[in-house]
Amino acid sequence: MVRFPGGKPPESCPATEEHRVSLQYQPIASLKPGTRIENTVFLMANWQLRPKRDGGQFVSMQLRDASGKITGVMWDSFEPLTDGGVGENDFVQVTAEVLTYQGQLQMRIQRISRVDESAVDSKHFLPVSPVSAEEMDRQFAQFVGQITDSDYRALVDSIFSTPALMDRFRRAPSAVSMHQAYLGGLMEHTFCVLRNALKIADNYPTANRSLLICAGLLHDVGKTMEFTFDKKIAYSDAGRLLGHISMGNALVEVHCSRIPGFPLAKKVLVQHIILSHHGYYEFGSPKRPKTLEALIMHHADIVDAQLSNYVEFAEKAENGGARWEYSAMFERYIFAPTEGEVKGSELMRALVYAAVPPPLAESQASPNIGEDLVSSDDLLRSLGADLPEKP
Ligand SMILES: [Fe+2]
Ligand SMILES: [Fe+2]
Repeated sequence: MVRFPGGKPPESCPATEEHRVSLQYQPIASLKPGTRIENTVFLMANWQLRPKRDGGQFVSMQLRDASGKITGVMWDSFEPLTDGGVGENDFVQVTAEVLTYQGQLQMRIQRISRVDESAVDSKHFLPVSPVSAEEMDRQFAQFVGQITDSDYRALVDSIFSTPALMDRFRRAPSAVSMHQAYLGGLMEHTFCVLRNALKIADNYPTANRSLLICAGLLHDVGKTMEFTFDKKIAYSDAGRLLGHISMGNALVEVHCSRIPGFPLAKKVLVQHIILSHHGYYEFGSPKRPKTLEALIMHHADIVDAQLSNYVEFAEKAENGGARWEYSAMFERYIFAPTEGEVKGSELMRALVYAAVPPPLAESQASPNIGEDLVSSDDLLRSLGADLPEKP
């Protein structure tokens, strides 16, 4: 458990009562209804003031760590938030109780205070890709080796030969929260997108595979500059101001200018894919896809972003998390049928079959017809009716 170096709070850490007690860490994934947590550190992703039904206000917030996220509510004593002492993306120390609300775990928070970043052990907040670094490097080399066009190959070699950039490409997350939001997530996402793109291209053989691989490796390379990921995964100032699409575009512009004789047409084709890969203006793309390779890349990208988001949710559900979750990416609830269970399906079967006429006499019926019919008494009992026993 991490404590202040030398047993004292760092200079920048206000010596409040909360900071004099030791920081605790408890993975969000391990929380259960009834768990009481004291002085436990989480990353506060965001918070909002909400109106109470009977007047007044309460605070709703989202807390995160490497293992997941949880909603926290504060009914009172939330001045540390409203007074500006605790902001979004700050580390916070909370005392709270865990309970279930509408089928989801929630923290009812009694006390909250800001914790200085320097006092926090980052390993609790920086999840890591399940794919090993060696495997990532192997896949990277394999994709680069498939670029047969010497210009596209030269561009990829030029960009990734910058050691600091390659190091950040290996470690960067793919997102702050939506999908593959862990160290190594950018490489993992990049290779999934490339595999998707090349599979799509199998059906459209006029697609230029060297262009696809080059632009696929580079489509999100701006995320190496868009995010910070030393203590926590967050946007850098420049990342929020420019975004990874324009950052990646700038990188390609500069590297192409340094490669003697790099064909301008090829530069523009790569840049078009980077600029258009989100597909729509409202998703941050300044241009919409207009070439075969750009169309393929957009679809390959969104398939991995959406399916990775769903698979991560479903894995949490399998490990005891909620089976329904509101997804900001999909703007709807998504569902994981854990152990094949779909509540309500029995009732639906009972009600739908209740409308079917009684079965024919056994001698007239063909073997399976009517086997599943429900008697009217069974139906009423399934609906909760208290029926007297038959004489
Ligand atoms: Fe992107
Ligand atoms: Fe992407």
